[in-house]
Amino acid sequence: PRKIIIDTDPGQDDAVAILMALASPEDVNVLGITCVAGNVPLPLTSKNSLIICELAGATDIPVYAGCDRPMGRELVTAEHVHGETGLNGPVLPDPKMALKSGHAVDYLIETLRDEPAGTVILCALGPLTNIATALQKAPDIADRVQQIVLMGGAYFEVGNITPTAEFNIYVDPQAADIVFKSGIDIVVMPLDVTHKALVTSPRNTAFRVLNTPVGRAVADMTDFFERFDKTKYGSDGAPLHDPCVIAYLIDPELFSGRHINVEIETTSELTMGMTVADWWGVTQRPANALFIGDLDADGFFTLLTERLARL
Ligand code: BDR
Ligand code: CA
Repeated sequence: PRKIIIDTDPGQDDAVAILMALASPEDVNVLGITCVAGNVPLPLTSKNSLIICELAGATDIPVYAGCDRPMGRELVTAEHVHGETGLNGPVLPDPKMALKSGHAVDYLIETLRDEPAGTVILCALGPLTNIATALQKAPDIADRVQQIVLMGGAYFEVGNITPTAEFNIYVDPQAADIVFKSGIDIVVMPLDVTHKALVTSPRNTAFRVLNTPVGRAVADMTDFFERFDKTKYGSDGAPLHDPCVIAYLIDPELFSGRHINVEIETTSELTMGMTVADWWGVTQRPANALFIGDLDADGFFTLLTERLARL
């Protein structure tokens, strides 16, 4: 199994991604979870991460709280999508597990220095603040990261928080800019692909009929989360953005994309946080990311449901 650290801001779709990873020990070994402010403020994303670990019975996973605000801007949150707690939908008990002491950024640095170089993959499911702060504080870790697989950005599908920006990148464009310029091998799951991973009603039923606490919680989470996309956009169900990152690590054959240049807009108020993705190769700028454009949605949901059934 590949060693991963999940950097996250749960968020129902983050929660499903964490569950999928914890259910897949033969593919991914979750070394730890680092929490960041994003969908909701840091105390809630940290608490939600603990709730999800307990739901999965994974009480030995170290969970760290990280940055409580973006590098150079005020925090923007998304309660309008995820609810006041960030995990609205299921009724889940308060966690008994505690956060590890210490800061997520220090945990990232120490782990990347302790593990053999090139053996740890960072799965980034929220704003990139923790990862960029770690790179700024300890530039030597850039060479030690095997890969960053992140959910963020958009090209054809453009924005979900502004007309041109995707939420994770918009919240901390400065951090995203640092990550995209780091030289690290990057795989991007933009809205173009995550908006094809829709929890239609038969897919939601498939979670519910697992008839386990995890199956019911995931069905309740995706029911809540979908009300936003269904009522606002008439979509067929909730887009499962963040689980695409974990599915890619388990079965990359489900996805296709292009190696392209991606730059981040960090100055214009109008297009702040836009991922300027050279999909058609119209510049001479070198490729710095594998930008995913398509997925086998049925294959993705079959894999996800099969994995959740194990918990
Ligand atoms: C991303 O933003 C958050 O709302 C989701 O958890 C996902 O990571 C989608 O734009
Ligand atoms: Ca997220």
